[in-house]
Amino acid sequence: MATILAIETSCDETAVAIVKKRQVLSSIVSSQIDLHSIYGGVVPELASRQHLEAINICLDQAMTEAAIEWQDIDAVAATCTPGLVGALLVGVSAAKTLAMIHHKPFLGVHHLEGHIYASYLSQPDLKPPFICLLVSGGHTSMIEVKDSFQYQMLGTTRDDAAGEAFDKVARLLNLGYPGGPIIDKLAKSGNPKAFKLPEGRISLPEGGYHPYDSSFSGLKTAVLRLVQKLETQGDIPVVDIAASFQATVAKALTKKTIQCALDSGINTITVGGGVAANSELRRQLLDAAKNYDIQVYFPPLKYCTDNAAMIGCAASEHFDQGHYSSLDLEVRSRMSITEVDQLYNN
Ligand code: KG4
Ligand code: ZN
Repeated sequence: MATILAIETSCDETAVAIVKKRQVLSSIVSSQIDLHSIYGGVVPELASRQHLEAINICLDQAMTEAAIEWQDIDAVAATCTPGLVGALLVGVSAAKTLAMIHHKPFLGVHHLEGHIYASYLSQPDLKPPFICLLVSGGHTSMIEVKDSFQYQMLGTTRDDAAGEAFDKVARLLNLGYPGGPIIDKLAKSGNPKAFKLPEGRISLPEGGYHPYDSSFSGLKTAVLRLVQKLETQGDIPVVDIAASFQATVAKALTKKTIQCALDSGINTITVGGGVAANSELRRQLLDAAKNYDIQVYFPPLKYCTDNAAMIGCAASEHFDQGHYSSLDLEVRSRMSITEVDQLYNN
């Protein structure tokens, strides 16, 4: 059973974890949210510098909490794509250095594959095929996991990602960054039916709508127009707007994901990425799935947003299959998850 030290620095969390197969021995996450929140979003240069400050401390903490020695670690892994290049470089350079010093194999991991593997941490018996709805700050993807490391992209976003929509709507309501958790909390005391907002369906040239692609920029603009209109009439009912927006996103994602599972004849759905933490999405999707005998698995909240345990979980499966990456592997700001095999044994 492989034990992996994994590093995640693709965006604004410096994270290190030690994972033994699907069991997390330690998971340290140092968030940079306070640093970036004054700018209303992630500043790439600041992110890289902060990763440099935090990485050694996180590494020490992860080793101490797992009470493990280097001799018990089989491989070192790090997120190498997609993400902010400067930020990715910090984690990958640290991982390669540790691999070299301690004579261990190095594995680069695709960040989205990590989000998919987060579901295995609480469901160790989960097996493909399943549909993964991946909803984060940068991605909204409907992925069919056909087998280990075999992915088919069935749907994507045409514009804003789901998390990005939460962040932008929070900004226009002056709620702060990141928007998802703030809107989620506020919405609990709001009326989700107060305002009717567009779900953002994608029309097809031949008529009808794309079944699995999403679009959230129309919804964001509709919220902006609503706020502008209400501003002229007095106080803005922020909690009701937050609740209506969140319910609309959850409804759109729920419909598409259930439809995708039914069309593919697959009765297991997993959800990954920061927006998987959303309470309304959890409620609506679990509720809808009951009507179709579909199982839905959400990772625990701490493994929805960026963490290194999910990266270690994905890496341990690659390691078990004999996969390793070259020490020349470069970081990439973008790469499709359908190309993960390019990261290994080349
Ligand atoms: O997966 P993640 O940590 O980073 C990326 O890979 O992008 O996702 C971050 C995104 C942010 O846009 C944040 O607002 C959103 O996830 N998010 C949420 C919630 N918690 C985090 N969105 C809705 N509801 C939440 N509870
Ligand atoms: Zn992520």
